[in-house]
Amino acid sequence: DAVLHRDRDLAGRSVVVTAGPTIEDIDPVRFLSNRSSGKMGYAIAQAAVARGARVTLITGPTSLPPVAGATMVPVRSTEDLLHAVQQVIEAADVFISAAAPADFRPVERLGHKWKKSSGIPALALEPTPDVLAMVAEHKRRNQVFVGFAAETQDALAYGEDKLRRKNLNYVVVNNVLEQGAGFGVDTNRVTVLGEGGWRTDFPLLPKAEVAERLLDIVRDALQSL
Ligand code: CTP
Ligand code: CA
Repeated sequence: DAVLHRDRDLAGRSVVVTAGPTIEDIDPVRFLSNRSSGKMGYAIAQAAVARGARVTLITGPTSLPPVAGATMVPVRSTEDLLHAVQQVIEAADVFISAAAPADFRPVERLGHKWKKSSGIPALALEPTPDVLAMVAEHKRRNQVFVGFAAETQDALAYGEDKLRRKNLNYVVVNNVLEQGAGFGVDTNRVTVLGEGGWRTDFPLLPKAEVAERLLDIVRDALQSL
């Protein structure tokens, strides 16, 4: 029975999950962000708790209830996310980066609300830190790191590139324009890519079941380390 098989199979493991969007403030009332709902990351954290792991869920702003049994760490910006991950990554066995960090931020944040009467703001942008790539530079052999790749075209090629470039064990690829795999929905259709051309395609599944199957892969990887 698949459910019994998964019972407590992550006991004693420390799992860090990131979820949701991050927010980059323009002024006290306006911001840059994206359409991430956080559902995939929360489902992973919940499944990991149920399987006995010690779970830290570092989350950008979402409308989801906290995951019972997980240590919840709320963050706002990508910089906040970086710092929160850096606090806990050393002690982690598993890092699953399901967050959709904002990739760009205003070079300066205005202290007062920009008025329309002042014209269109120039809004100079700069890149935010790539949290996953930065922490994966220090990945130990006995840690398993999983990234996500949300794409709208050439998903597998971009996913393969992220796997290599970010030094990951696995990357979970999805095409967010596909039916049932987009933002805010309760299902996902993903392909998991691993080192050495390893690949598995999941059918369209509830995000809770995607989470379980992903944790099966992670558990097997931990056991073979
Ligand atoms: N990621 C991150 N920090 C960022 C951007 C992305 O940690 N500043 C992580 C995400 O959590 C995800 C992976 O990197 O696990 C890939 O994110 P994605 O947005 O698909 O790729 P990017 O590298 O940001 O490239 P692009 O958005 O241009 O496709
Ligand atoms: Ca991105």
